[in-house]
Amino acid sequence: MKKQPRCAALTSPLRFVQQWCLLLSIFIISASARTFDYAGALSKSLLYFEAQRSGRLPYNQRVTWRDNSGLTDGLEQGVDLVGGYYDAGDHVKFGLPMAFTVTMLSWSVIEYGEQIAIAGELEHALEAIKWGTDYFIKAHTSPNVLWAEVGDGDTDHYCWQRPEDMTTSRQAYKIDENNPGSDLAGETAAAMAAASIVFKKTNPHYSHLLLHHAQQLFEFGDKYRGKYDSSVEEVKSYYASVSGYMDELLWGGLWLYMATDNEFYLKYVINKAHSFGGIGWAITEFSWDVKYAGLQIIAAKLHMEGKHKEHNHILERYREKAEHYICSCLKKNNGSNNVDHTPGGLIYIRQWNNMQYVSSAAFLLTVYSDFLRKSDQKLSCHGVVGHEELLTFAKSQVNYILGSNPMNMSYLVGYGPSYPTRVHHRGASIVSYRENKGFIGCTQGYDNWYSRVEPNPNVVVGALVGGPDCLDNFSDERGNYMQTEACTYNTAPLVGVLAKLNHQKVEV
Ligand SMILES: *[C@@H]1O[C@H](CO)[C@@H](O)[C@H](O)[C@H]1NC(C)=O
Ligand SMILES: *[C@@H]1O[C@H](CO)[C@@H](O)[C@H](O)[C@H]1NC(C)=O
Ligand SMILES: *[C@@H]1O[C@H](CO)[C@@H](O)[C@H](O)[C@H]1NC(C)=O
Repeated sequence: MKKQPRCAALTSPLRFVQQWCLLLSIFIISASARTFDYAGALSKSLLYFEAQRSGRLPYNQRVTWRDNSGLTDGLEQGVDLVGGYYDAGDHVKFGLPMAFTVTMLSWSVIEYGEQIAIAGELEHALEAIKWGTDYFIKAHTSPNVLWAEVGDGDTDHYCWQRPEDMTTSRQAYKIDENNPGSDLAGETAAAMAAASIVFKKTNPHYSHLLLHHAQQLFEFGDKYRGKYDSSVEEVKSYYASVSGYMDELLWGGLWLYMATDNEFYLKYVINKAHSFGGIGWAITEFSWDVKYAGLQIIAAKLHMEGKHKEHNHILERYREKAEHYICSCLKKNNGSNNVDHTPGGLIYIRQWNNMQYVSSAAFLLTVYSDFLRKSDQKLSCHGVVGHEELLTFAKSQVNYILGSNPMNMSYLVGYGPSYPTRVHHRGASIVSYRENKGFIGCTQGYDNWYSRVEPNPNVVVGALVGGPDCLDNFSDERGNYMQTEACTYNTAPLVGVLAKLNHQKVEV
């Protein structure tokens, strides 16, 4: 593990601040002239989901260093669990982050489908969503059974292998009536409900099927309450549900309302707003675990639209919390309720995979900016803020990601002249199976490929890595997984933001 950066330096010694101010002013002058190819970045971001595919790859697979893998997933349990996504640089299929990824891809298409289409990427975005939802359909084998995970993190992490060579356990784990998982069921319901909106026009039969699964999953999650990591202990060291399941139930309920217009779901979100923490929690992170900010932002939109006057007193309180989140990202709350920014201006939540919080914040700020613009409203932070400022800030985060930062590096792999070349990713770091089919074993991979200093042989284009530390410093080493590992849910929210920024540039 790497030495911890001294994050306290952000707020303390003056010496440090002066040094950074000097660097920073040089950097701002040089950065202001940069322009970015958002359309190119959007195309690349969608390629990433092809690199993460598990299962039998289709004829039109564009990431050609990958091949079929995980073809017997579920076989031991007598269920077909072939397909879906690997979450990051390993080969476990974790249900909760996979579902969140699909929710965010779908939300991107719901808000910015037109802009994605203008960039010529709608077909790829729909394929990325469907690769996930096809898997969820398989994994939801009966109304109250959902397969939660395939593979197990502990044996997987002993091995450094290509997915095509995988010899590790493919144990599958499920939630059911006796082993509940309301968070997983709620998020998967959210993903399928959001995707059902996406496919409503182009594929109504599929859309209807997704909605049916979403409704059953929501009912299952609500009726049999519990945290999925109590039922599937194996996830505890990887994707423990720290925030519990109440956020996912509200979130799933709200997405079902968006998909169905059925008042039943809206009333659920209103009636449980207080007891489930929806209007009590002002949180400054939005992630695969913590959904409150996203939920509050959609509820705030309902408030702005003014269509649900009978629920205004609750929607208003959702909106207050949504705005707390937004203002916090802008550092415009009164007092200390603000997130940190690095000296280079990047949102900084925590050291391990900080970029996930950056891309999700950029997305939420972008959609909130549009909600405000469309309803001709402003935001009250500690002072009034217009919609332009939200978009400008979101853009600054994306520009930082794409290279406008003290390291002059794009954290979106494959974009621009300089990007991480030793991404912590098993498949990318080993010679492609299509080039060399000779079996590479578990420890052989560590000895011959993981420990090499050379760049990875395969570029995992479109992956958004964990990113720099609190002082904008980044070290491109394969073993530095806190910074060089990428995850599907880092890139997913970027899809919508990049489409919006590209379109905005076209408009000017
Ligand atoms: C902001 O915080 C300061 C210090 O805590 C307080 O005196 C002031 O009243 C607050 N302003 C608002 C608008 O809440
Ligand atoms: C980044 O680019 C600027 C301007 O070209 C340069 O002054 C600076 O030294 C570069 N920083 C790094 C870490 O390469
Ligand atoms: C940045 O990281 C490099 C490589 O790990 C290290 O040598 C350097 O001291 C770090 N710089 C700061 C300011 O932390």
